[in-house]
Amino acid sequence: MIFRQLFEGISSTYTYLIASEETGRALLVDPVLPTWQRDLEVISELGLSLAYTVETHIHADHITSAKMLKQEAGSRIAGPALDGLSCTEAPLADGIPFTVDDIGLEPIHTPGHTDNHLAYRVADRVLTGDALMIDGCGRTDFQNGDAGTLYDSVTGRLFALSDDTLVFPAHDYNGRHVSSIAQEKERNPRLGSGKTRSEFIEIMNDLNLPYPKFIDYAVPGNQDCGECPEDIPAHLEQYCGQMGESPQG
Ligand code: FE2
Repeated sequence: MIFRQLFEGISSTYTYLIASEETGRALLVDPVLPTWQRDLEVISELGLSLAYTVETHIHADHITSAKMLKQEAGSRIAGPALDGLSCTEAPLADGIPFTVDDIGLEPIHTPGHTDNHLAYRVADRVLTGDALMIDGCGRTDFQNGDAGTLYDSVTGRLFALSDDTLVFPAHDYNGRHVSSIAQEKERNPRLGSGKTRSEFIEIMNDLNLPYPKFIDYAVPGNQDCGECPEDIPAHLEQYCGQMGESPQG
């Protein structure tokens, strides 16, 4: 298996390239619009072809490049079946393996950040999306999120994986790249070291996070598999790639 972790700096998103060494067919999990050309360059440099883009959930902080990559590279669009998006060509569901040649993704329904969120176990690792991050987790106050539900998803489904399973999150804001189930069980300040469900709910309720600045554009854009809304304000245009070189403001 070929595996690469790619970073998009505007939304601090990790995109994962997973490909078959035998056939060269590749998947991109959570690709981001401003870096669609970079992603295709990496795929080309490795001599691969892009078969599918795969979403963990409907993102609120960036717009997927699924539609762009479909246009430019002929890839097909995969994502959670429960989202019911008409643009999703390969709907994925809990426990039903998604295979591309010798690559097998096992979707794990992990609601709580969003209601339909999927993590994907592949080989010795799990792509945890926004359900579980390194020393953290996704917020639970939008998109039908629910702190108690996220606690159940992480402790019931992800912490049930073997301790040496590698954890690759959808974001990191502090330059960290990879963790493990054992490490998150031990030291995740929100969910680890035996935190109870009620303790976790209290932590999440006390975060007092600001309103997500891009959510009103990102969610409809992603419900259309990566359409940049026409009414996007100038200061958010970098999320659509027109100003991809600009620093985050
Ligand atoms: Fe998210």
